[in-house]
Amino acid sequence: FGNKLHFYLNVSSVEIDNPDPDITLLNYVRSIGLTGTKLGCAEGACGACTIMISSYDKKSDKISHISTNACLTPLCSIDGKHVVTIEGIGNVKNPHPIQERLALLHGLLRNNPNPSEEEAEGCFDGNLCRCTDYRPILDAAKDKSN
Ligand code: FES
Repeated sequence: FGNKLHFYLNVSSVEIDNPDPDITLLNYVRSIGLTGTKLGCAEGACGACTIMISSYDKKSDKISHISTNACLTPLCSIDGKHVVTIEGIGNVKNPHPIQERLALLHGLLRNNPNPSEEEAEGCFDGNLCRCTDYRPILDAAKDKSN
């Protein structure tokens, strides 16, 4: 065993020897150039640092996808998991349809491809939009053209 951390980050397998137990997942991804994940409040209130973590549950034989605040997530807690940052979904030249429709829904569409408006609104919990408002995002969620 030793002090080795292994996880998947977007499309890459990552191994880190003797990981710093104090570093957050946010600081780690930003330190390697994945700066699409932002630092806002650093205390779990704004959602600017949201990333997706997928994990396999042996008992239920299912994969779950959750969005989480990378600013509060210790890097060492993601051993054996799959982390997807915004760079792993698409980019400016090749955006994923979800990015075009609704970047802020995160794991909802994976877990529930046809969310009700109430369910979509529930995904805003813990995410404070500072640049527009929530209406265009909800409209994008309703757009099933992609
Ligand atoms: Fe605000 Fe993480 S930076 S929730």
